[in-house]
Amino acid sequence: MTSSNSISTAKPILIVGGTGKTGRRVAERLDAQNVPVRIGSRSGSPAFDWEDRNTWLPALDGVKAAYITYYPDIAIPGATETVEAFARLAVDNGVKRLVLLSGRGEHEAQRAEKAFQQSGADWTIVRASWFAQNFSENVMLASILAGELALPVGDVGEPFVDANDIADVVAAALTDDRHIGELYEVTGPRLLTFAQATEEIASAVKRDIRYVTITPEQFSHGLAQEQLPPEIVGLLNELFTQVLDGRNEYLADGVQRALGRAPRDFSHYVQETAATGIWSDISEGQ
Ligand SMILES: NC(=O)c1ccc[n+]([C@@H]2O[C@H](COP(=O)([O-])OP(=O)(O)OC[C@H]3O[C@@H](n4cnc5c(N)ncnc54)[C@H](OP(=O)(O)O)[C@@H]3O)[C@@H](O)[C@H]2O)c1
Repeated sequence: MTSSNSISTAKPILIVGGTGKTGRRVAERLDAQNVPVRIGSRSGSPAFDWEDRNTWLPALDGVKAAYITYYPDIAIPGATETVEAFARLAVDNGVKRLVLLSGRGEHEAQRAEKAFQQSGADWTIVRASWFAQNFSENVMLASILAGELALPVGDVGEPFVDANDIADVVAAALTDDRHIGELYEVTGPRLLTFAQATEEIASAVKRDIRYVTITPEQFSHGLAQEQLPPEIVGLLNELFTQVLDGRNEYLADGVQRALGRAPRDFSHYVQETAATGIWSDISEGQ
């Protein structure tokens, strides 16, 4: 895509969740293009907290556009109302160019998308499949390091998407008006079961890492033992048992449509991540 319709770069772009898996990568891309960035998170300046609406307006003050990632998950009850309120506040304060990160096959996420589309924003939605980076940048990392990943998911194929591809799409959307009004469903180019994904990682790092399918009850019990709050246990259970029940077992063309190129394959992510050594430092998983 050319940047003939690019918006001015004088004011910063707010990245809500700017230290997270996609937000951090979007910030890097905008930085590289000399587009000023404001990180919207509890550790940002000014601090932004989804739980404290008094922090929303200061974060939006003087920005020209925003990338919105809701935390902990856009599929949790109440996320729609919160995202909608934030989008409307942004629009009312002159920040019309908004890009939302959403998830596939989730009733609540699709409800949030609709509310977002009706907020008056010049919107773009990036609706993503499971991130490949969940294997290296969140709770699954500890399991990989411990040598056993146990989840309540059987032989269902998921087209894991690389967070770098999401960031490329989001950075393009934030800097080129031709993406306004587009809903990009972004996935990787290949369906893999969790067992196959684990096998690829194991073979790249030459370690014995097993994948085990467990029941939802065993999964919830394990999470509760780790002292996770009940709402997060419920959310993770719902994500694994409902979103990965086969409804999302298909590829989508969002990366190709937005960027004019194919998405990165899971094996690319695995080689790149294995080279960082993060899956080899077994002491981290203990
Ligand atoms: N992970 C996936 O596979 C996937 C797939 C599709 C869609 N999504 C969607 O992506 C979004 C982000 O999920 P993620 O798991 O990838 O997380 P993430 O972006 O890695 O999340 C962490 C970010 O959220 C910030 N944060 C945490 N609590 C916050 C709060 N109360 N207020 C403001 N910022 C807060 C963190 O910064 P601080 O700690 O500094 O506040 C950090 O920047 C969710 O809406 C999810 O539904 C995820």
